[in-house]
Amino acid sequence: MMHTRSFGRTGWKVSEIGFGAWAIGGAWGDVSEAQARDALLAALEKGTTFIDTADVYGDGRSERIVREVLKEWRGERPIVATKAGRRLSPHVASGYTQANLAAFVDRSLQNLGVETLDLLQLHCPPTEVYYRPEVFDALDSLVAAGKIRHYGVSVEKVEEALKAIEYPNVVSVQIIYNIFRQRPAGLFFREAKARNVAVIARVPLASGLLTGKMTRDSAFAPDDHRNFNRHGEAFDVGETFAGVPYEVALDAVEAIRPLVPAGTSMAAFALRWILMADAVSVVIPGAKSRAQAEANAAASELPALSPQTMQALRAIYEEKIAPHVHHRW
Ligand SMILES: NC(=O)c1ccc[n+]([C@@H]2O[C@H](COP(=O)([O-])OP(=O)(O)OC[C@H]3O[C@@H](n4cnc5c(N)ncnc54)[C@H](OP(=O)(O)O)[C@@H]3O)[C@@H](O)[C@H]2O)c1
Repeated sequence: MMHTRSFGRTGWKVSEIGFGAWAIGGAWGDVSEAQARDALLAALEKGTTFIDTADVYGDGRSERIVREVLKEWRGERPIVATKAGRRLSPHVASGYTQANLAAFVDRSLQNLGVETLDLLQLHCPPTEVYYRPEVFDALDSLVAAGKIRHYGVSVEKVEEALKAIEYPNVVSVQIIYNIFRQRPAGLFFREAKARNVAVIARVPLASGLLTGKMTRDSAFAPDDHRNFNRHGEAFDVGETFAGVPYEVALDAVEAIRPLVPAGTSMAAFALRWILMADAVSVVIPGAKSRAQAEANAAASELPALSPQTMQALRAIYEEKIAPHVHHRW
């Protein structure tokens, strides 16, 4: 049984566990087309009605896989959120023009095989973009032209989120929020709730660390960002393992392990922790297989975590993790 939540001011109800479609696009090692489709299909079969993708995931592969799977899907139409901006090279604020955004949107419309995008998110633009109202005017005109229904932002930092929601038509903010990234739960969640802005919690498993399966010996393929972006070589280091140094994170995972009830996967437990925040509209774990998608969807069925467990997780965060991340994002 998948629970739903309201998605801000849009009037949409979406499954509280969504599907993050980055790993089925690229930058996570080899995932075959068949495996990718099956992972997404499994999520839909478990009641997922929110998919997050981007034009750059596998240079459009992720969007095209979403289109192919949905072509055959006979259940409820999910909301498909995509992103734009990262095709800019160099990726600079001045590139976020009306013409460029319109061209990116046209390509996503084609990849996804639809006439209107449900939700377009600016894809972690440079901070400067939030200080350029003309970018948001351009998004308003894409809505007026019927190219997109709604728009939101995907941000790196809490401060960017706070700035973005000053624009009245920003309906959603996507931000990293997980047991290793607790800062959004302060001022930002309060402000988002006050304005009825939807919150999309990304990187919920800290790139897989919070499944409890990783060890000091885990190896990652050369084309997996957990190999090539370990120090932020390709994009913000916070997107890889939530920016927590690997050995520090492994140590914290061992402190978390005894808190996970018998019969519950640590992945589902970590997702349930996120759902404890009522400001969160949807959590979007990535999954590369049917089994992972099913394990993640199961989080919606778990009972609430006890106040003692919540406190213990906060203490682990404050002691081991916060010094590495809290002031940075
Ligand atoms: N800038 C942005 O806007 C941005 C940046 C990052 C992510 N996102 C979005 O957020 C979504 C989620 O974040 P993410 O994919 O980076 O990280 P994540 O959800 O924290 O981790 C996903 C990875 O963990 C492993 N995994 C997932 N479920 C599992 C399970 N039940 N058991 C064991 N392992 C499991 C899989 O990789 P392995 O099996 O290889 O370990 C999977 O690819 C993305 O797909 C994307 O849609 C957006």
